[in-house]
This record gives sequence, structure tokens and C-alpha cells, in this order.
Amino acid sequence: MFRRIKIFFFLVLLLLLGGILGALWFLPGVFSAKATPPEWEVKAARYIRHLATPSHFLKMSNPLHLTPEVLGDARHHFADHCATCHANDGSGKTAMGPNFYPPVPDLRDPVIQDMTDGELFYVIHHGIRFTGMPAWGKGDPSEDTESWKLVFFIRHLPNITPEEIAEMKTLNPMTQEERDEQAALDRFLSGEDIAPSPSHDHHH
Ligand code: HEC
Repeated sequence: MFRRIKIFFFLVLLLLLGGILGALWFLPGVFSAKATPPEWEVKAARYIRHLATPSHFLKMSNPLHLTPEVLGDARHHFADHCATCHANDGSGKTAMGPNFYPPVPDLRDPVIQDMTDGELFYVIHHGIRFTGMPAWGKGDPSEDTESWKLVFFIRHLPNITPEEIAEMKTLNPMTQEERDEQAALDRFLSGEDIAPSPSHDHHH
């Protein structure tokens, strides 16, 4: 009897040890964001997220009325808050976009465009845990008109015009360097300064 218990514990210990060694073997690199997620993982994550979205959101269509003003608001909002990661045209081709795990998707892609309005809203309002996608909604979802406006804008992305992109560029957040450049340019244009950015020393 005792013998059996001893053997049992010995086996449990062996399993534990094997588990620890196995984990150490696989662990290096597991938390790196540099890898590209395999296709099956992307599909599985999307499917599980779909299942995890409350069904009344899945069925919802945009409660707002689409007007040029509403789309303009959303374009402004997107340029200011989303384009750093998603790019003005939604392509995801930004400095950060491809370096997330999972990477930022192309929002013009059918995979995204086939989502229902409510599902897109849910993602924007709540964000996506364990990814780079932050939650943007504050308070009660039923009062979050900003996210619904963004849903219109995401639907509009496949048909966005070069004029709209040009306007968005003026609304994108600037780095300190860009702000300095802009300020120098403004001074130059108002005639205060002789050169936009003096890049060499003046010797007297
Ligand atoms: C800090 C970077 C970052 C910002 C800023 C950001 N996103 Fe995202 N977003 C991501 C990442 C990363 C993903 C991919 C997540 C995934 O595949 O699970 C994503 C995914 C999405 C998706 C696709 C959801 C899906 O089911 O695949 C939508 C729609 C989206 N973002 C909208 C927005 C909107 C609208 C804004 C601005 C209000 C925004 N994002 C701002 C990083 C960002």
C-alpha cells in the first residue's frame, strides 16, 4: 500500500519536473510581440471574440443617421485618435501598426467590413484585451455616440478620397519635432524669421 503511494508521488513529481522543464524549453520568446500570429490563431481568436460579444450588440445596426457632418466628426476623431496605429486610410501601415501582436488589421478588409455595426461598435467601445487595441468608450454604451460615428467612418474607409486623407493629415497628432518645424515655418511665413530651420551655424 505505502509502496503504491510512494510510486504515485514519484510519478507526480516526475510529471511536475517534466512540465517545468518543458515550460522553460518553450518559454523564451513566448512573450515577444515580434512574431506573426499563425493563421489558425487569428481565426480562432476572431471566432472566440465573436462568441464573447453579447448577442444584442451583434444584431445592432447604427442608431445614428449618416450625414456629412457626422462623417466629418468621425474623420476628425479617427485622424486624431486612431490613425497613429491604423493610418488615415485604415490600412494599418504605420510605424507601430505591424509591430503589435496581433498586428493592426487593414480596416478596409472584408474580414472587418463583414462585421455587423454593433460588433464594430463593441470593439471600439470596449477595446480588445491582451492586444494593442484600447477601449475608447466612457460610461454607458447607449450614450456613446462617438463610437457609432466611428462605425460609419470605418464603413466609409474602402471609398475614402485623397482629399479626405489630405484633410486628415492636418489633424494627425504631431511629434515635438513636427511641432517645432511647423512653428518655425509659421514664423518664416509671417516674415519674422529668415529661414524655416537654420541648419548650419553662422560664422561672423
Ligand atoms: C495603440 C494602437 C491603437 C489605437 C490608437 C487604435 N487601435 Fe484599433 N486596433 C489596434 C490593434 C493592435 C488591433 C488588432 C487587435 C486584434 O486583432 O485583436 C486593432 C483592431 C481594431 C479593429 C478591428 C477589430 C477586429 O475585430 O478585428 C477596429 C474596428 C479598430 N481597431 C478600431 C479603432 C478605432 C476606431 C480607433 C480610434 C478610436 C482605434 N482602433 C485606435 C490598435 C489600435
